[in-house]
Amino acid sequence: MAILITGGAGYIGSHTVRHFQQQGESVVVYDHLGQGHKDAVSTDVPFYAGDLHDQAMLRSVFGAHDITAVIHFAAHSLVGESVTGPLRYYENNLAGTMKLLEVMLEFDVKQIVFSSTAAVYGEPQRIPIKEDSPTNPTNPYGETKLAMERLLHWSEQAYGIHYVALRYFNAAGADPDGEIGEDHTPESHLIPIVLQTALGQRSHVAIFGDDYDTQDGTCVRDYIHVMDLAHAHYLALKKLETTAKSAVYNLGNGTGFSVKEVIDMCKQVTERTIQVEQTARRAGDPAVLIASSAKATEELGWIPQYPDLKTIVQHAWQWHVHHPTGYQKGKDTL
Ligand code: UFG
Repeated sequence: MAILITGGAGYIGSHTVRHFQQQGESVVVYDHLGQGHKDAVSTDVPFYAGDLHDQAMLRSVFGAHDITAVIHFAAHSLVGESVTGPLRYYENNLAGTMKLLEVMLEFDVKQIVFSSTAAVYGEPQRIPIKEDSPTNPTNPYGETKLAMERLLHWSEQAYGIHYVALRYFNAAGADPDGEIGEDHTPESHLIPIVLQTALGQRSHVAIFGDDYDTQDGTCVRDYIHVMDLAHAHYLALKKLETTAKSAVYNLGNGTGFSVKEVIDMCKQVTERTIQVEQTARRAGDPAVLIASSAKATEELGWIPQYPDLKTIVQHAWQWHVHHPTGYQKGKDTL
């Protein structure tokens, strides 16, 4: 018996694979390696480099491993490229999930933990954001994730597939052991960009807009440690196994940090100079995104272990210092 983790070689996926292993769970990874890295997955985990659209390969994996549940990360996840390439996003994210669900049904697998996002809310009406807040995505990425959630909802009604959708706020940090971390190409997320600047790999950090209605004019986000996200998947699956009840949860720390505050924290942790440049707003950025995760705490017993921004940045920095080129050229090359 094993749990299938799609997208298990990606940033959040690989940390979840590691966490599940630490909990003694048997896992299998399925990842087409578009953004993921095979080296992010321990060699003792069965690994399949496959696409969700390849149902023959999915069937062979389900057949070979007696899969009992799926943790579904595999998806494109960049807001900007979703705006210029919505077809690609719907094809990969929504159609890919349809293919996966078809194979799950063939093998009578009826439990899935789904990687959703705060991007389903769009511009929030109230802060902190609760799960019953209106969902009005402002980009195709958020739309596809919302459509996938709705697909799961209707699949529960029709086929009895139970699901937990986890709406992540801003995933950050790295495995505290320093073995795995964040490595996107191209990188677009704030913390790795700031740390790459501290390493001298970039000349400066562009601050996207300083005229938002926030304390210092820059966008405020709720940063959540990637290992705390990983643990939430474990708790979500345990809940599904014991109650077979579907649910949606926000995952954040409930505290917001502005772009400038994040950069200041990175300066403090790295003790390096970080040049910044003020630029125009980035399209589609809401001013403030802060989660209420009370529901996850209440129903899943989820309590973040690394809630403070300093620890999150320290763990990310440890990864960047020891793996300055990510997974590409091995370790300790700085
Ligand atoms: N930012 C900069 N400069 C940069 C990069 C980012 O100023 O070089 C700013 C952004 O404008 C934003 C903040 O830093 O205000 C955080 O940006 P990220 O790109 O790191 O993250 P996002 O908030 O855009 O999105 C992330 C995930 C989404 C998810 C969202 C939920 O990538 O998938 O968090 O909060 F939906």
